[in-house]
Amino acid sequence: MAILLTGAAGFIGFHVATALLKRGEDVIGIDNLNPYYDVKLKEARLAELEKAAGFTFHKLDVADGEAMAAFGAGLRNVDRILHLAAQAGVRYSFENPEAYIASNVDGQLNLLELARRIGSLKHFVYASSSSVYGGNTKLPFSVRDAVEKPISLYAATKRAGELMAVTYSHLHNLPATGLRFFTVYGPWGRPDMSAYIFAKLISEGKPIPVFNNGEMMRDFTFIDDIVAGVLAAIDRPPPEAGHRLYNLGNHRSEPLMRFIELIETALGRKAEIDFQPMQRGDVKETYADITESERDLDFHPRTTIDKGVPRFIAWFRDYHGL
Ligand SMILES: NC(=O)c1ccc[n+]([C@@H]2O[C@H](COP(=O)([O-])OP(=O)(O)OC[C@H]3O[C@@H](n4cnc5c(N)ncnc54)[C@H](O)[C@@H]3O)[C@@H](O)[C@H]2O)c1
Repeated sequence: MAILLTGAAGFIGFHVATALLKRGEDVIGIDNLNPYYDVKLKEARLAELEKAAGFTFHKLDVADGEAMAAFGAGLRNVDRILHLAAQAGVRYSFENPEAYIASNVDGQLNLLELARRIGSLKHFVYASSSSVYGGNTKLPFSVRDAVEKPISLYAATKRAGELMAVTYSHLHNLPATGLRFFTVYGPWGRPDMSAYIFAKLISEGKPIPVFNNGEMMRDFTFIDDIVAGVLAAIDRPPPEAGHRLYNLGNHRSEPLMRFIELIETALGRKAEIDFQPMQRGDVKETYADITESERDLDFHPRTTIDKGVPRFIAWFRDYHGL
């Protein structure tokens, strides 16, 4: 039996697909390879995945209901779905809100429709985000906390996706698990995220924009820990076809300025810092309560930023031939 993985050319999708293939699984990957960030990076990830015999790829837009229904009708031997495809990023949701509704709301609906039609489906796992905690001030953020104050459209679409999954799970006896990821970084990372933006600008000798005078805290989570959590979640469908939510975060909230210092050290170059005001839609602090993930998924993130940042920078240098 195979696993259907959307967003396979993306940062997290690529790493999870690699791990699934390594343990001998067949992976059917979907991605629309959209140009939100450098398509060459997505193609380079795909080229790595395509080296494995167990990987097949379909260029498809999850927001295209007709195309997804036709694709679903022809699917055989899929017993699990991992739905990671999404329009990510908080800031871009001010520029192009439509992309978030299409990929994250229509896309979630199309995947849930596909899932409920596969009689043999054992588990539907999908990506949510720490951004659903929005304006919450109680730290650490717990899956038991009410999340009613999204402060970006990205967060609102991710929360909508969770509620849609709760409904489908209830109506169609669909075992479903949502994973709230906390600031994931690492090799093959996203060019629109802070680690990559900082590394690129510092290595080019350009100033780096730092918001809220650097007074920000993030629960930076290394990709290998995320992969371990995602695999554990895939392998543990909730009992009685229920719906579960988990935080996948490092459970260490770090000052942004310390993260920047580690990037400087790994690059061997000082950053010129351009302090800027707090950005709309951004939160000052994220910090994951991982009680449920530890208990149910045996999730024990091990990678501190002291270990993870140099590993990201090593890849960054290698990928860019620096
Ligand atoms: N990286 C993080 O820190 C983080 C944090 C919280 C949540 N998430 C969520 O995790 C998931 C994976 O994120 P990522 O960091 O790997 O992002 P990513 O942008 O690298 O990967 C997403 C992939 O989905 C594809 N995609 C987007 N819209 C699509 C569509 N309509 N049809 C088909 N493919 C489409 C993109 O081309 C991309 O390859 C997303 O759902 C994201 O919202 C990520």
